[in-house]
Amino acid sequence: MRVLVINGPNLNMLGKRPKEHYGTLTLDEINNLMIKEAGNAIHLDFFQSNCEGEIVSKIQQSLDYDAIIINPAAYTHTSVAIHDALEIFSGLKIEVHLSEVDNREDFRRINFVRDVCNICFSGGHEKSYLEAIKYLKKMM
Ligand code: DQA
Repeated sequence: MRVLVINGPNLNMLGKRPKEHYGTLTLDEINNLMIKEAGNAIHLDFFQSNCEGEIVSKIQQSLDYDAIIINPAAYTHTSVAIHDALEIFSGLKIEVHLSEVDNREDFRRINFVRDVCNICFSGGHEKSYLEAIKYLKKMM
């Protein structure tokens, strides 16, 4: 199974962001934990961008993947373009958030990707990403 992991804006700054929401690990550390959890059965590719258009283009170029795990970060709450790109992708789509995104500020309750994803894992810091891998293993 080939899986693309997409992380949106400011997630390259994990480790420096508020720990109560995002935990203490860097993105590289989280990616390494995901690789361990995935084992041999799942091949992971990683993409991070701070630019909405780059994320849209990456999704368009990745239609042959079996699944996408995406944390769109702030674009979760603003991006019709990422919603529309995900809609084109026919594989499994897993939304992930480090924080409890539905129980924070009101503006974070606006969510443009939830309805085009199969499932969402949030609030577990790095464990949210590991839950996504466990879900994929179950679906294989
Ligand atoms: C986030 C939650 C978003 O609201 C925020 O803008 C982020 C990260 C999370 O992983 O908890 O940058 O997606």
